[in-house]
Amino acid sequence: MAELPELLQTADFKSEKHVPVIECPDQVAAGQRFEVKVSVGKEVDHPNTTEHHIRWITLYFLPDGGKFPYQVARVEFTVHGESAEEANEGPVYTHHAAGVSMKTEKPGTLLALSYCNIHGLWRSSKALALD
Ligand code: FE2
Repeated sequence: MAELPELLQTADFKSEKHVPVIECPDQVAAGQRFEVKVSVGKEVDHPNTTEHHIRWITLYFLPDGGKFPYQVARVEFTVHGESAEEANEGPVYTHHAAGVSMKTEKPGTLLALSYCNIHGLWRSSKALALD
């Protein structure tokens, strides 16, 4: 029987198109709002078609010494060329990238999880220091 941790794939985002990328300053001021960009396919494009696309990215924050992560944001990408006529004939595609504003009083780790509708779950993380 499989367990969820075994299904969370990861790799170098520079060569693997599914890995979520977390972009933000390495160090921020305590309690000051900052921007985090989450995306998939920063270096290697991921397809965005009705049949094959990124459904969502969830961003978590684990404070140093903490046991449980906090969910910071969950972004859903909900249109991928669907139409009443035919797959990929629709006029709209959500691109799998989003910006999130946040602040924290503690240093820790940002963790991202992304989901491809046919290639499953992918994870990454980024340390966040405070001034
Ligand atoms: Fe995929």
